[in-house]
Formats: sequence, C-alpha cells, structure tokens
Amino acid sequence: MTSTRGLEGVVATESSISSIIDDTLTYVGYDIDDLAENASFEEVVYLLWHKRLPKEDELAELKQQLSDNMALPQEILNHFKTYPIDKVHPMSALRSAVSLLGLYDDLSEDMSDEANYQKAINLQAKIATIVTAFSRVRKGLEPVEPRADLGYAANFLYMLSGKEPEDIEVEAFDKALVLHADHELNASTFTARVCVATLSDMYSGVTAAIGALKGPLHGGANEQVMKMLSEIGSEENAEAYIEEKLANKEKIMGFGHRVYRKGDPRAKHLREMSRQLTKLRGEEKWYNMSIRVEAAFTAQKPLPPNVDFYSASVYHSLGIDHDLFTPIFAVSRVSGWIAHILEQYANNRLIRPRADYVGPGMQKYVPINER
Ligand code: SDX
Repeated sequence: MTSTRGLEGVVATESSISSIIDDTLTYVGYDIDDLAENASFEEVVYLLWHKRLPKEDELAELKQQLSDNMALPQEILNHFKTYPIDKVHPMSALRSAVSLLGLYDDLSEDMSDEANYQKAINLQAKIATIVTAFSRVRKGLEPVEPRADLGYAANFLYMLSGKEPEDIEVEAFDKALVLHADHELNASTFTARVCVATLSDMYSGVTAAIGALKGPLHGGANEQVMKMLSEIGSEENAEAYIEEKLANKEKIMGFGHRVYRKGDPRAKHLREMSRQLTKLRGEEKWYNMSIRVEAAFTAQKPLPPNVDFYSASVYHSLGIDHDLFTPIFAVSRVSGWIAHILEQYANNRLIRPRADYVGPGMQKYVPINER
C-alpha cells in the first residue's frame, strides 16, 4: 500500500455539483464568472440543491421558505448568553449553535427526502441568524429579527447592524456569497461527506464541516489575511513585511491552492470588489496594500491569491468584524455542504480509506511494573 500525503490528486467520489477543470470553476456546468455577474445567492442555492436554475415561482418559493425559517429558537439565543463571550471565537460559537440547532428540530433523525429538504432550508436560513445574533449578543446588543421583505444577503447585513444596508453593500455581499457557495471536494465538504456517509444526520455533517472550515489553511485564512494587512499597517511596508515572512519560511495567508495552478477564478471578482468598496469608503489603503502584497509575494513564489485574499478587504469595507469573516464563509458554503450531503445520501457508501502503517513491528505486552 502506498499513501498520498493530504490525498493530493486522489479522486474520492463522483459529483455533479461543481467542477474545477483547467482552473475553470463551474457550479452544475455554469461558469463562476457568469454566475458572479448575473445570479443571486438564492438562485445559486437552488441550483446547487436541484441541479438546475429556478423558474420565477420556484425562486420566490425558496426565498419565502428561507425568510420564514430564519428566526432562532429562544433556547439558542439564551445559550449564547452562557458562553464565555469574551473568549469564544465566533466560529466555535457557530459550530456549537449549529449542533444545538439539531436538538430543537423534530425532524433531526428523520432521513426521508422531505425531512432532509426541510433541514436544508432550516440550516441555510438559520445560519445567517446565528452568526448575526451571536455577533450582537457578545456586544451586549439585542438580536435583530429578520425582515420578510429583504433577500438573504440584505437580511444578513440588516440583522448584523440593525440598519438597512445600501444597495451597493447588498450587491457586493450577495456576490461574495455566490463566489463562496461551493468548491468541489474541499476539506470541509469532504468532512461533511465523510460524516454523513455513516448515515449520520445533516446537523452532524454541517457541524463537522464547520470544524474543518475553521482552520487557517482553509476558511480561517480570510481572518488571518486581515490580521496580516493590519500588521503591515501602511502600503509602503508591504514589500519588507513579505520579504521577512518568506525569509522566516512562514506561509502568507490567502495565497496558494491545492487545485489551482494559474489562479483562483474567484479572486479577480473579489479584487475588483475590494477596489470599488475601499474607494467608496475612502479607505483605499487596504486595496493598495493588498495589491502590493500580491506583487511582492508572487514575485518570489508563483502562487496566485485564492478566494480568501481579497475577501478580507471586501468584508472589512462592509464594516464587518474581522473574526466574522470565516463564519460568513460558512453562511455561504453551507449551501454547498448541503448539496454534497444530499448527493452523498442519494448514492451512499461508507467512506473508509486505509492507512499505510509505519509504526513499530509486532510487540509483546509488558506488565506495567516491568516497563
Ligand atoms: C480555501 O480546497 C479548496 O477548495 C479550499 C477553498 C474552498 O473554496 O473551499 O478554495 C478555500 O481553503 C483557500 C485556501 C486558504 N488557505 C490559505 O490561504 C493558507 C495559505 N495557503 C497555503 O497554506 C497552501 O497554499 C494551501 C493550504 C492552500 C494548499 O496547501 P498544499 O496544497 O498542501 O500545498 P503545500 O502547503 O504543500 O505547499 C506547496 C509549496 C510549499 O513549498 P515547498 O516546501 O514545496 O518549497 O508551496 C509553498 C509551500 O511552502 N506554499 C506557500 C504558500 N502556499 C504554498 N508558501 C508561502 N505562502 C503560502 N501561502
């Protein structure tokens, strides 16, 4: 038996949800560039779950279902108040709250298609409320109720700040959600599929996936990018900072990818959004700094920016707290996790690879007093 480190290049399943071929990303055959320019997040959710774009009435129904299911059980809001609020990372709070959500869903253990669809709606709707309500509760503010007249992206921003967002903010946030929705067999999606392939329930699969997304080599990188930009502080420091990090053999967050070689097709959209939003806010320094970091890094290593690099300055420009960046990734990616969980259930086989054992040979048990 030979092992492949990090399962690089291993094809672990068939899927008809998203594909990455020659650095082109598609959701169900639609180019991400086309979707980023034209589709709303709700249309993408429908596309991922039904493998086709919705008609008008189908989209309206999905929007209604999401809006009807956004409110959280009071128990979860109460639970937030019991967390050691000044120490808890919002990704940990999200992971715990999604797990808890399963306790208050009577359909949790019902594995019928109808129940699984209802759970999908429940998770997609409530994940936005969990992230925004937790963010407010930890600041001593009351959670804001979702508004039925707002779409998903607008509702998220509204529940976060309590103010109706500007159109340009909604447009940018919606596009960011579209860009993060699915990405083939990334680590968190694989985690979700491994979990539910034991025929465990959807809440367990999504909770496991949130745990995997949290790490800085995956979704956690966007928060780390903002930390780096804050450390750099001003544009003219960018080159020296990167040089020093690389001299110390440190990884630069937001660069490199296991699958892409020429570049992550999502990054250019986020770069342009970063340019526009930082200008709008009169805070061009974050965009300018990012551009200089990219130039300095890629001059030394041919590793283009990934989805996490420019999303940092985009979310910062939307006034979002930096430790909410990764939870926002989860708010979008849960749509992809759910699509993969449903696909796994539909054609399930336990996922159980082998390990190439490299430990000691056969040993004889030695009683504890003789060791
Ligand atoms: C996401 O998989 C997905 O689809 C994920 C994702 C999605 O939508 O789901 O696209 C979202 O997770 C994006 C990635 C976010 N992570 C980061 O930005 C963290 C920084 N990037 C790296 O740590 C790294 O590039 C990974 C984790 C993204 C990929 O890791 P690999 O494929 O295991 O590559 P590696 O760590 O083995 O690196 C190969 C070489 C090494 O150099 P050598 O030892 O061969 O000389 O490239 C170097 C690495 O040191 N390298 C970097 C680097 N990334 C790779 N060097 C400095 N900075 C980096 N960021």
